[in-house]
Amino acid sequence: MLESSRFLPSETKMTDAYKIAILEGDAIGPEIVAQAVRVFSTVSARSEAEFELINAPFGAGAYFEHGKAFPDETKAICDGADAILKGPVGLSHEESKKIPVEEQAERGAILPLRARYNTFANFRPIFLSENMAHFSPLKPEVIEGGIDILLIRELVGGLYFGSKKRGVNEAGLRYVHETLEYDENQIRQVLEVAFDQARLRKKRLHNIHKSNVLMSSVFWNEVLDEVHQQYQDVEVVHLLVDAAATALCLNPGQFDVMVMENMFGDILSDQGGGILGSLGLMPSACIGPEKAYYEPSHGSAPDIAGKDIANPYSMIGSVAMMLEMSFSMQKEADAVWSAMRSVFEGGYSTADLSAAGDSIKIVSTIEFGDLVIKELDTLLA
Ligand code: IPM
Ligand code: MN
Repeated sequence: MLESSRFLPSETKMTDAYKIAILEGDAIGPEIVAQAVRVFSTVSARSEAEFELINAPFGAGAYFEHGKAFPDETKAICDGADAILKGPVGLSHEESKKIPVEEQAERGAILPLRARYNTFANFRPIFLSENMAHFSPLKPEVIEGGIDILLIRELVGGLYFGSKKRGVNEAGLRYVHETLEYDENQIRQVLEVAFDQARLRKKRLHNIHKSNVLMSSVFWNEVLDEVHQQYQDVEVVHLLVDAAATALCLNPGQFDVMVMENMFGDILSDQGGGILGSLGLMPSACIGPEKAYYEPSHGSAPDIAGKDIANPYSMIGSVAMMLEMSFSMQKEADAVWSAMRSVFEGGYSTADLSAAGDSIKIVSTIEFGDLVIKELDTLLA
């Protein structure tokens, strides 16, 4: 789906196994990771590649067991891995309150993971094949031919990582201060990734910003104009972030590659899951200069944990993205996508997508995995 060739530099492996750190995460995490892990054995049985999977604690469970959401042992395993597969982390609002704020899964695990490997480019494909178009809540005439957008979110800067403080001001009022900061290199590097992807696809890049209000967007757009000089074959379309939210609903077909600041990308990528019909259809890749990790765009859904009903598509799709982007295994990655799509196209669905029609057969997390693995095995035979 992402038409890049090898994305990250790494030595060609002939005999050694690729080392993959597996961070199962919390709530539905272990259930959907279990289905994703099955893909590695099928792919390795049907290709030259070998995978060594190393489990490591990460998230709320890690905090309760080891006192840290991102324990040192896990850091060492991730440091030594060729790529990282991460399940969703976090607990319900009530359960999270038992954990000190700085060790809660978001601040204590996810953001430090992103910062550690400087995974500045977050690829969030918003994709529905034509035959899966019925899963979308949008009218068929609005998404004729399905949906195929690549949202690229800056992931290690902006509002998430700017300086923050709380206090009491001179008037005696409690106040908060939270900043959106970027230097030009941080903006340039994610824009280059986005332009490269636009060049490989339809040569159209939507730049999403808020330059009518935010100085940070004015600066972002200045850097974009400079980077654009090197990509004159790519058309840039500027769109304010609020207008982009509307356009994603009314006419998603106008978008191909979109690029934006961290917080804008967090919000619009969830809207992407909305127009597909479920966040369970949103895998992602978080790419840094030397290391990448792969995760679903959604949370750990504690309300449905342990019921074997979660949709593992986003987790298995994250493995497909790893095969392609970290290991250049394009054929195998394509086969994983095809396997999942043919399961859906065969009339099966997980419960999150059940609104889609009466003829649909609802399958459990494990049954969906069984169907995908069977299909994948045939495709790679
Ligand atoms: C995401 C998630 C994370 C984010 C949270 C869990 C920290 O919502 O990956 O989109 O806000 O980036
Ligand atoms: Mn999010």
